[in-house]
Amino acid sequence: MILITGGTGYIGSHTCIELINAGWPVVIIDNLSNSSPEILDRLYQVTGQTVEFIEGDIRDRRLLTELLQCYDFETVVHFAGLKAVGESREIPLTYYENNVAGTVNLCQVMAEQKIKNLVFSSSAGVYGDPEKLPVTEDMPLSATNPYGRSKLIIEDILRDLHQSDPQWNIALLRYFNPIGAHPSGLIGENPTGIPNNLMPYIAQVAAGKLEQLSIFGNDYPTSDGTGVRDYIHVIDLARGHLKAIEKLRGDPGVQAWNLGVGKGYSVLEIVAAFEQASGRPVPYRITSRRSGDVAICYANPTRAEQELGWCTELTLDAMVADVWRWQSNNPEGSKNTDKNVV
Ligand code: NAD
Ligand code: UFG
Repeated sequence: MILITGGTGYIGSHTCIELINAGWPVVIIDNLSNSSPEILDRLYQVTGQTVEFIEGDIRDRRLLTELLQCYDFETVVHFAGLKAVGESREIPLTYYENNVAGTVNLCQVMAEQKIKNLVFSSSAGVYGDPEKLPVTEDMPLSATNPYGRSKLIIEDILRDLHQSDPQWNIALLRYFNPIGAHPSGLIGENPTGIPNNLMPYIAQVAAGKLEQLSIFGNDYPTSDGTGVRDYIHVIDLARGHLKAIEKLRGDPGVQAWNLGVGKGYSVLEIVAAFEQASGRPVPYRITSRRSGDVAICYANPTRAEQELGWCTELTLDAMVADVWRWQSNNPEGSKNTDKNVV
């Protein structure tokens, strides 16, 4: 049985589907600070199974202890955390409290209950401004904002934890840029307020909810001057978790794996792909660079391919087509709408 923290969120809900489809029983704990309980109905529609859900916070030690005593968990897949880079600069303590202290609390309870397999959601953000490309796992780590630093601190804590007790097996999964949605159109990214990330912003411009995209700089040293990232379909990413859970059974200790496609696309290439998939224009204007953004970041995913037996399968066209289906079916996100009552 698998415990999924943050399992009603964007990546967590897609990972639930992949785990359930592979026959894993799962339990979700989420405080719903950035997701909605309607996701549970959607998960039922997609998988035909009711997912056990506990509304609660990973910082609540008593609740976690009861939960871990109640079920026979083999592994915890830990998504719960705050993730908005800009917000993390405004309220760094909230980020450190939620992400770092929350993870420490989780690990303490896991240690007490002798559950020592953990899959952790890390980020390509831990490479800071990468000194060479593509990015490999052994490159120096740094952070350009409190969110990224929270991931870096947690990685260090988890390495220390394994050092102190080699019975721990920990997968540090460094995600590149997850986009896409479930092909059913029932589950996808559901940001509250104005999106910070490129893909949900583009989707809302194409849908007419936002007027135009601001492209943050066209003077980067890239083919067309706009920033380049490694966009990965959230379903490919979710499948990486399945592989990591299996890998932990072989006692690998603590290991980091890049989960990316290994190919970079510029902002303008993403806009063009989205216009093609949606048949809608995505008006944009060029503005100044966003502070803290790097020019180019894409993965070398060879280690995950060789050690986890994982590789990506879904193309950029599938990613943008799935986002558009999700956006058009769910103009208000996953909350019930007349069009899509669950
Ligand atoms: P998300 O916000 O959709 O999901 C996170 C979930 O965690 C939410 O449902 C939220 O309600 C829950 N949560 C937050 N704090 C909690 C707490 N203290 N207790 C219980 N639940 C809590 O985000 P996501 O995109 O699915 O990201 C999942 C993980 O992956 C996060 O840790 C994020 O930092 C990491 N990550 C995301 C990206 C990305 O671009 N989406 C990239 C790299 C890493
Ligand atoms: N961009 C725009 N306009 C926008 C939003 C983004 O031009 O409105 C550009 C950015 O400048 C960047 C690219 O689109 O070149 C991607 O930006 P995102 O905000 O979508 O993603 P980032 O690469 O900046 O960061 C994301 C997550 C981080 C994570 C990182 C690596 O937000 O949490 O991927 O995983 F650390």
